[in-house]
Amino acid sequence: MLDVTGFKKRHAHRFGADPAVFVAPGRVNLIGEHTDYAGGFVMPAAIDFGTLAAISPRNDGRVIVWSENFHEQVSHQIEGLPKNGGGHWSGYPLGVVRILREAGFAVPPFSLSVQGDVPLGAGLSSSASIEVATALAALSLAQADPPREEIARLCQRAENVYVGASCGIMDQFIACRGAENHALLLDCRSLGYRLAPIPENVSLVIANTMVRHAIAGGEYGIRRGEVEEGTEILRSHRPEIQLLRDATTKDLELWGAEMPENVLRRCRHVITENLRTVAAADALAAGNLKKLGDLMAAAHASYRDDFEASCEEADTMVGAAQRLPGLIGARLTGGGFGGCTVNLVHADRAEAFASRLHNDYRARTGIDAEIYRCHASAAAHAV
Ligand code: GLA
Repeated sequence: MLDVTGFKKRHAHRFGADPAVFVAPGRVNLIGEHTDYAGGFVMPAAIDFGTLAAISPRNDGRVIVWSENFHEQVSHQIEGLPKNGGGHWSGYPLGVVRILREAGFAVPPFSLSVQGDVPLGAGLSSSASIEVATALAALSLAQADPPREEIARLCQRAENVYVGASCGIMDQFIACRGAENHALLLDCRSLGYRLAPIPENVSLVIANTMVRHAIAGGEYGIRRGEVEEGTEILRSHRPEIQLLRDATTKDLELWGAEMPENVLRRCRHVITENLRTVAAADALAAGNLKKLGDLMAAAHASYRDDFEASCEEADTMVGAAQRLPGLIGARLTGGGFGGCTVNLVHADRAEAFASRLHNDYRARTGIDAEIYRCHASAAAHAV
């Protein structure tokens, strides 16, 4: 749990001014992976890990950002912010400030403290959480209150152009629009969304494989490229296919043979994942947990076999979960290639489930996994 009072005091002590404080959550995605940048559907929930941002104005033209996690401070003239993040943690907050200013928000010089408890590199969106917390803080000094959808887009842009990670909109959006005890079905093209309540008797158990994942460059970008390659081939036959979201399994039957085999499988994952995600939201809304669990299992298999974005440890974790009493559904969550699995578990079994999962995974891999029992939480807000 983040300690807001202590954090606020430390900021005041360090910078000599009482700050305004904001918090933004991390997220877990229940289903809908690598569909966001294809304009498709995702169904994440905000979680009770997050990032705090404390801000106070300065009168020396500088932007100073202090990270309590890294015990490190960066300082720049606001008019001379670096042109890219350079692979440093400060790239996330500085990127947001640059993008907000470029978009016309009059963010004045400031001191910012940040502190977060979202596990880093675990696929739980620590990046979006620091971006959105920073954005709310900076916008408060600029006395601006744009719609949450715009904040999400600006934060995504900061990550795309400043940090250099070609992520979609899911993580920033859920940090901006999540709701307590709810998952959110998002149409990533229109940004239309609907909330689906997570019943009280269902627990969210997140299991960290302890295999680190990164989305800047690497496999994430390769997959995105493959999806775009397949989309272009389909578009050459059906020009109304703007994004892979517009394509159907029928299109793949007709023209998939023109694609390299790996590209065909990536596209099949995305197209079927969109169908599964909408069906999962309906199943959750109807209280059909059996169906929801089956869809999560199918989504994991597709992510593993067609999208090839899983890893041995994640498959082991999901397999172990599937053998335990109480499980509703399990799959690898987030960008892939490591990170966490998400498990929906009958609440009365959740405690035993978590401890058995930890033991079974250790017996099979020798790795001490971290298991988090989370709650679907509120969107970013002032505290
Ligand atoms: C990362 C990205 C998201 C999304 C997921 C995969 O979390 O930041 O935009 O693409 O991977 O679903």
